[in-house]
Amino acid sequence: MAADNSQRLMADNPRLKNNIDITTALGDLQLKNPVLTASGTCGFGRELAERYELSELGALIVKGITVEPRSGNSSPRIAETPAGLLNSIGLENPGLEGFIREELPWLAGVKPPVLANISGHSISDFSRLAEGLAGRQEIAGLEVNVSCPNIGAGGLAFGTDPEMVARVAEAVRSYYSGFILVKLTPAAGDILAVAQAARESGAEALTVCNTMPGMEIDIESRAPVLGNTFGGLSGPALQPIALKLVYQLAQADILPILGGGGIMTGRDAIKFLLAGARAVSVGTATLLDPLAPLKIKTGIVDYLKKHNCGNLQEIIGQALTEAETSR
Ligand SMILES: Cc1cc2nc3c(=O)[nH]c(=O)nc-3n(C[C@H](O)[C@H](O)[C@H](O)COP(=O)(O)O)c2cc1C
Repeated sequence: MAADNSQRLMADNPRLKNNIDITTALGDLQLKNPVLTASGTCGFGRELAERYELSELGALIVKGITVEPRSGNSSPRIAETPAGLLNSIGLENPGLEGFIREELPWLAGVKPPVLANISGHSISDFSRLAEGLAGRQEIAGLEVNVSCPNIGAGGLAFGTDPEMVARVAEAVRSYYSGFILVKLTPAAGDILAVAQAARESGAEALTVCNTMPGMEIDIESRAPVLGNTFGGLSGPALQPIALKLVYQLAQADILPILGGGGIMTGRDAIKFLLAGARAVSVGTATLLDPLAPLKIKTGIVDYLKKHNCGNLQEIIGQALTEAETSR
């Protein structure tokens, strides 16, 4: 990276960057810039903090937590595919108590808003997580991951069923009065119905989207590559799918959207913003290059500058028609 570029990356105030205002918001959550980390791809932020000031990020979305600690799925848990990454990490995490004890004190000192990502296999799991995190000042809100299998419903992912999503969101809302994002799965049959259900049950914004279920097979061993057989596909292969969902949901004007899936460059991020996302999340790119969120932020500023935009808001939803961008 050129030296002048990295100096610009370190400029903290968005207004210092050629007077271009890159502030944005997801509902009531104000963001200094539109680039967030995607859950599960930067742990709890400690490693990134060794590389740069976390205040460079719009917000930090930390690793998904469950009620009990989990050691995750059997290895191998990562596989490369022609245009993306498959992971079956299986939500390895310290559990709710471990998160409160070991991670929240550290996160209290983190400057950008921190969003906790919660996952469960039953409605009562989500209730317990929301209750346990209610009123915690260290976090600015919850991102509710509804991509996990619902054990009570034969293992079908919560997020594929609007009624289940409504029940999860209601359960979280009944304990948690702060900001709630619901993170949708691209495997949902009727994404609009799922999003409506999330809104009606108390969500204030949507993350679009989580990984797409997939698998890889080793033709020499004639066996699935992942220890868990199936995994979630992320990275470039996911991008057109995620972009379509963002566009479709922005057109329906249901809730503000945090868009992501395969964002590797600033230009990729611009596509999601033009499709109507108010902010973007960067996952797989961060695994490949911890500086990716900052480079993507610089890429967004460069695009705005090149197109004579003084304000990020000028481009949000520009690929939609005027009538469709009121929210
Ligand atoms: C290794 C890995 C771990 C992940 N862990 C979580 C998680 O704990 N909770 C969650 O909601 N999403 C998780 N995700 C999904 C990402 O947050 C993101 O939604 C997805 O990877 C798509 O974005 P990307 O293509 O930029 O990676 C994980 C993804 C990867 C690659």
